[in-house]
Amino acid sequence: MTVINSIGDLRELARRRLPRALFDYIDRGSYDEFTLARNRDDLRALTLRQRVMVDVSKLSLERTVLGERWAMPVALAPTGLTGLFHRDGEIAAARAAQGAGLPFTLSTMSICSIEDVRAAVDGTLWFQLYLMRDAAFNENMIARARETRCAALVLTLDLPVQGIRRRDAKNGLAVPPRLTLSSAGDFLLRPRWLAGLLRSKRRTFGNLAAYFPSKGTVALSEWVGTHLDNTLTWDGIAWVRERWPGKLLLKGILDAEDARHALDSGVDGVVVSNHGGRQLDGAPSTIAALPAVVDAVRGRCAVLMDGGIAGGQDVLKALALGADACLVGRAFLYGLAARGETGVALALGILRSELGISMALTGVNDIRNVDRRVLVT
Ligand code: FNR
Repeated sequence: MTVINSIGDLRELARRRLPRALFDYIDRGSYDEFTLARNRDDLRALTLRQRVMVDVSKLSLERTVLGERWAMPVALAPTGLTGLFHRDGEIAAARAAQGAGLPFTLSTMSICSIEDVRAAVDGTLWFQLYLMRDAAFNENMIARARETRCAALVLTLDLPVQGIRRRDAKNGLAVPPRLTLSSAGDFLLRPRWLAGLLRSKRRTFGNLAAYFPSKGTVALSEWVGTHLDNTLTWDGIAWVRERWPGKLLLKGILDAEDARHALDSGVDGVVVSNHGGRQLDGAPSTIAALPAVVDAVRGRCAVLMDGGIAGGQDVLKALALGADACLVGRAFLYGLAARGETGVALALGILRSELGISMALTGVNDIRNVDRRVLVT
């Protein structure tokens, strides 16, 4: 492909470059993938209002989110296994985020450890935590996030049990990637991916060294099923609060009642998310759920949204319905799998350019002024 000018182009390159099991792990969702499709469809269904005769010679995309200045209201979402999609993928993505002036969120289930990523970048780093049954693990991870100067801790709440991702089960997704008769052919057809991975010393979960078996491969769903704390209730947030003085966000809020509970827990922000259509299939899209959450918190904490953001127009629509910023998952992962750090930078550049042009054509020159008026109601 000579000209790459959409997230769709990067997705196609990623599809060609990655083994099937890894591409599907990124691309697909849970059960029948209704919610995965809704995230995209509901965003697409919103109509932008074309306006003219506004001075758009200077566009400002900067926005202050959670007290920090971002080059545009977009951050990189936490995604597990990212260092398997490209050699040292989390470091590559964090570097691209830093270059673009945006925060990068490292997943608990990353391949590069939190210390390795911090050693590679100075930029804003967030850490996403899955609370495990082992309190010592949680305590230790929170301390490590503090020591590595993470600006925010993001607790993901929508995975007390793992949604069934049928594709992953059929593909036998495991970490490190399992070499079997059927996968071997697939790996050999992806020489660039394979060479990259073989050159890295990081092939299993960097943050979980003491918890994850160092020998052999493990089916991810199996491991998650036995270690994640699914007894957690709202009281658990206070336990984290006592140990984490920085910004605290709850990810996976899709309901106004839960948003009110989040506020009562004293958090700094919520992320309206259905885990990218990977958890409760049949749940609403995030763009459909967003307005009720915004109404419920009424400016008392930040509201971020993710799910289905595949272009700058989607960011504009989420802001129009009250989000302070968006997280992007697949959009940056396709770039990463396609071209490493350059690919992530390309993905972020595409989002930025589409956002700026769409703002201008809806008659807004400063992103802080985006509201419902950019939509046809
Ligand atoms: C995720 N997501 C996720 N979320 C989280 O809190 N911890 C994690 O480890 C992961 N892992 C993960 C892996 C992959 C491959 C994907 C695609 C997603 C969910 C992620 O943070 C985010 O909510 C969604 O990706 C947003 O939807 P889009 O942008 O991918 O459509």
